[in-house]
Amino acid sequence: MLEIKDLHKQFGEQKILKGINLHVEQGERHAIIGPNGAGKSTLFNVITGKYAPTHGKVIYKGHDISGMHPHRITRRGLGRSFQIINVFGDMTVYQNIRSGVLARNGVFFNFTSYLDGMKAIEEESRRIIESISLSDQMDTPASEMAYGAQRALEIGLSLTTNPDLLLLDEPGAGTSKSETKHTVELIRKVTQNKTLIIVEHDMDVVFALADRISVLYYGEIILTDVPQKIKENKKVKEIYLGEATCE
Ligand SMILES: Nc1ncnc2c1ncn2[C@@H]1O[C@H](COP(=O)(O)OP(=O)(O)O)[C@@H](O)[C@H]1O
Ligand SMILES: [Mg+2]
Repeated sequence: MLEIKDLHKQFGEQKILKGINLHVEQGERHAIIGPNGAGKSTLFNVITGKYAPTHGKVIYKGHDISGMHPHRITRRGLGRSFQIINVFGDMTVYQNIRSGVLARNGVFFNFTSYLDGMKAIEEESRRIIESISLSDQMDTPASEMAYGAQRALEIGLSLTTNPDLLLLDEPGAGTSKSETKHTVELIRKVTQNKTLIIVEHDMDVVFALADRISVLYYGEIILTDVPQKIKENKKVKEIYLGEATCE
């Protein structure tokens, strides 16, 4: 599904990604962990076309998408959410999702009539809202919802492009421990039959979801393995887990 080859990203003199190699299988749920500033969001920004790589390649479904315009990458089936909540606070859940469906897919639909088009967009919006379990808050302005619900809406927005590969950047950020179970269930549900790459700080979310985990440490992936092996790894404990779990 995704193959990253010797990927480098540099901002001015600052080398942020220093030769990333990563292989993600179709249907896999892959987590990327690592300390703050390690380059996780930058990696997402290069994969999704926000930034062109300084060197190296991003191969998606067998095609080289390195440096391609974000809209073209989205159209090929790669969707993402953002670390910072990106929803429109004044708009309701329905308005947010509908505008996402309209803006991102509208021009690609091939409708027999305008009314058919509007109906299809409405149905698709309702289907997405149902999948993120926000049907009962459909007419609530986003800013009036609990933070966890806003994060769910952010995930909903990333689904409006109907992605095959979904990149979620810290979907649990800012949510409370008690919401973790809900976050995990939601992500598992919306990524059925999809491939997922998730950056997440909450280790409970990571270990509950991931088939494999990669550890990004200052611009380099130092290890990729199954969760149990990551948990047991001495170096990982030293550089990351010890700090994150405050043991
Ligand atoms: N557009 C940019 N211009 C300059 N530096 C950047 C830019 N984006 C990220 N960085 C730097 O790259 C480093 C890694 O950031 P980031 O990828 O956000 O880390 P993480 O998501 O792992 O916390 C940071 O030092 C950050 O300041
Ligand atoms: Mg980040």
